[in-house]
Amino acid sequence: MRLKDKTALITGGARGIGFAIATSLAREGANICIADINADGAKSAAAKLAESGVRTLGIEVNVADQPSVQAMVGGVVRHFGKLDILINNAGIGGNTPFLQTKLEDWNRTISINLTGAFLVAQACAQQMVDQGHGGKIINIASLSGQRGGNGRAAYGSAKAGLELLTKVMSVELSEYGINVNNIAPGAIETEMAATAHDAATRSAYNYLIPMVRYGSPEEIGDAAIFLCSDESRYVQGHTLNVDGGFGTAGLMFGGRKKTPS
Ligand SMILES: NC(=O)c1ccc[n+]([C@@H]2O[C@H](COP(=O)([O-])OP(=O)(O)OC[C@H]3O[C@@H](n4cnc5c(N)ncnc54)[C@H](O)[C@@H]3O)[C@@H](O)[C@H]2O)c1
Repeated sequence: MRLKDKTALITGGARGIGFAIATSLAREGANICIADINADGAKSAAAKLAESGVRTLGIEVNVADQPSVQAMVGGVVRHFGKLDILINNAGIGGNTPFLQTKLEDWNRTISINLTGAFLVAQACAQQMVDQGHGGKIINIASLSGQRGGNGRAAYGSAKAGLELLTKVMSVELSEYGINVNNIAPGAIETEMAATAHDAATRSAYNYLIPMVRYGSPEEIGDAAIFLCSDESRYVQGHTLNVDGGFGTAGLMFGGRKKTPS
């Protein structure tokens, strides 16, 4: 119960990685707000987590809309009295070749995955500063923000921007006792991946991943517990890749075996 009595807000928590992180934090005793553009999904995810005995709230938010973000933070504070942890996770996928990327697709991806993350982080950080007892902010970036995968012009640029934003936030928020870090997932089995990854994409990934498999959302949840807990108090501005070795691998010759999950 490392997070007992903490209040955690998870954007995009109705499903996938966000819901898995919410489940992990609830297991450690945190009270949970799930905020998602899918209002019904947020409410039913919150109801499911309440079965584990923690207090929960499910609310609608569009992270790309500042009034909606401010209403979300106000709603969390009204309900729980405080905010200790932000999991800045809401995002959309994207896989369009550079030459075919239309301005409206670029703007949509940047407005949700980068501007949206900025709006949420700023509103939550201000709340934590006002409360005066620190906090934890985990931004969910991506290996696509570190490597030049094809089709990732907009998505990768947004995630690379989020990694840099994390560094600036960590510098400026240190004096308030707020830890700001990234988790960068590699290829993770979620509905987003099911839609975006065809068979060719899957085998291309597995060729480049030393562990020769996709990760599970629960493996991201396990990493998040560390970054949300007191044990990580001196970890600041860091990007924790949770990617089966994808980001570090060089030439891999010879046979490789799938690593058990
Ligand atoms: N799945 C992967 O392989 C992978 C890899 C690297 C990074 N990521 C990142 O992890 C995060 C979660 O991805 P996932 O695979 O669980 O995706 P997902 O599509 O399964 O879940 C994303 C959630 O975000 C919500 N959402 C989308 N737009 C929103 C908005 N404007 N406001 C509020 N909520 C919104 C969706 O309704 C959904 O519930 C994303 O930021 C994604 O970029 C995923």
